[in-house]
Amino acid sequence: MFTRHLIDLDTVSIDQLNDVLDLAKVIMKHPQYFCDSGHGKIMATLFYEPSTRTQMSFQSAMLKLGGKIVGFDNPNSSSVSKGESLRDTVRVVSNYADLIVIRHPCEGAAQAAAMFSRCNVINAGDGGHLHPTQTLTDLFTLINTKGTLSNLTVGICGDLKNGRTVHSLIKSLVGFKNNKFVFISTPQLAIPDYIKKIVIDAGCKYSESASLSDSISKIDVLYMTRIQRERFENDEEYKNQKGVFILDKEKMKNAKYGLKILHPLPRIDEIDYEVDDDSRAVYFDQTEYGMYVRMALILYMLENSEKKLDARPESNSEKCCCNPRCITNHELYLPKLYKKAEGREICEYCDHSQPICSK
Ligand code: NCD
Repeated sequence: MFTRHLIDLDTVSIDQLNDVLDLAKVIMKHPQYFCDSGHGKIMATLFYEPSTRTQMSFQSAMLKLGGKIVGFDNPNSSSVSKGESLRDTVRVVSNYADLIVIRHPCEGAAQAAAMFSRCNVINAGDGGHLHPTQTLTDLFTLINTKGTLSNLTVGICGDLKNGRTVHSLIKSLVGFKNNKFVFISTPQLAIPDYIKKIVIDAGCKYSESASLSDSISKIDVLYMTRIQRERFENDEEYKNQKGVFILDKEKMKNAKYGLKILHPLPRIDEIDYEVDDDSRAVYFDQTEYGMYVRMALILYMLENSEKKLDARPESNSEKCCCNPRCITNHELYLPKLYKKAEGREICEYCDHSQPICSK
C-alpha cells in the first residue's frame, strides 16, 4: 500500500514501485479490463504552471479508467486570481475530488498542499524540485525499451540544476543495481550537491562532463532535457546557456547501437528533428507509456482514498528557508520544518540545505 500522498518517490519502496510498473504493463496490454475501474471517482488537476503532457496524460488516464475530471490549467481562471491561498483552494477542492494532481512553480508546494487536503495528493511537478510521475513514466519507458532498470550507464544532459525530472529520476535509479551516471552540463547548470550526495550515499558511480560528443559512446541511456528558461533570473543568463548541447545525427554516429534516447519533453532545440527517425529515439513512445503508468498510479492511489485531514506538524524552527522559490516563502502560514544533518538544516518542503540562516 502507498503512503497517502505521492510527493516524492522516496516514500515508495522498490516493491511498490515494481507493483505499479507491473500493473501499468497489464493495463497497457488489456486496457479494456480497466475501463470501469475508476467509475464514480473524480480527479482534480490543479495546474498553477503550464503543462501539456503531464496534465493531458493524467486526464486521459482517468477518463480511460471511467472516472471524471475537474480542475484548472490556468490559476487566473479560478479564485487563486482573487488571492485565495493554496491551503484554502486545496481544502475546498478536496471536498469535491477523490484525488488531487497538483503542479506549482514553488518548490515544496505539493508537500504543502498535502497538509490541507482531505484526499490523496500527487505531485505533478513543484518548481525545479521534483516530478515523481515523470520518473514513473521514464522507468516504464526503460523497462519497455531497454528491458531493465539495472546495470545501466545513464547520461543526463542539459539543465541538471533546474530540471525536476532529472532529480526525481536519479533519486529513483540509484535504488536499482549497478547504475552509473554521466552528468553532462555546463558548470552553471550542474547537478545540485544534494543530488550528488544521494548518488554517493547509494554507492553509485558518477562522472561529470562538459561534452556530449565525448560522452555519447559510453552510455546506454541518454536523458536529454531542455534549458529551463522560466527558472532563470533574467533572459541574458538563459541565452548564455541555450544551444550548448544539441543532439544531432553526427553525434549519433558514435552512440551505441542499443542506446535509448529519452526526453520528458517539451523539446526546444536540444534534439535535432532529424534524430526523431532514429529507432533509438523513444521520447514520443515515452509520452504514451506515461499515460499507462498514470492509470496504474491512479488505481493504486484510489485504493487508499479515505477522506480525512491528517494532523499537521508544528514548526520546529523560527527561521525561513533561504530558498526564495520555496513554498514557505510564498504561503507564509506554513509550519517551518527542517531535518538536521551534518550541522546543516534541510528544508522538509524543498530539500534546500542551509547553514543556520539568520533571516
Ligand atoms: C517536464 C516538466 O514539466 O518538468 N515536462 C513534463 O512534465 N513532461 C520537463 C520540462 O518542462 O522541461
